[in-house]
Amino acid sequence: AGNRTFTMIKPDAVENGHIGAILAKINEAGFRIVSMKMTQLSRRDAGNFYAVHKERPFFGELVEYMTSGHIVAAILEKDNAVADFRTLIGNTDPAKADEGTIRKMFATSIAANAVHGSDSDENAEIEGNFFFSARERY
Ligand code: CMP
Repeated sequence: AGNRTFTMIKPDAVENGHIGAILAKINEAGFRIVSMKMTQLSRRDAGNFYAVHKERPFFGELVEYMTSGHIVAAILEKDNAVADFRTLIGNTDPAKADEGTIRKMFATSIAANAVHGSDSDENAEIEGNFFFSARERY
């Protein structure tokens, strides 16, 4: 039981062979994996997913990067899922992330920062629905 958040393991972490280690950290922290798939975003997918950032100077770089390779998308469940997952992944900038966080351990840079985590319950639902059909959201 509990509530849900949405995550992606981003192209740098997939490319660098960290899927297994990141999923282990997620499970050890008490999250249940509800839904999961490996896929690759099209430019249109990435533009839609990150529409909230489209006026930011890094938007082009973000879309370029997020379409550059495979990602692993997952819906996770735990009490206080959104906030606890953001604590587990650490600061957006891996240089500022706490020791032991997923971004500190596995991220390459602020853009290639290993994992995504939803910033609210509302966005967790929107983002999970973006990747998974009703039949896949167990
Ligand atoms: P996330 O917080 O998951 O979603 C927005 C993403 O934009 C963020 O992770 C980073 O990957 C990326 N991002 C944020 N700030 C910058 C930046 N200054 N330069 C490049 N990418 C960034």
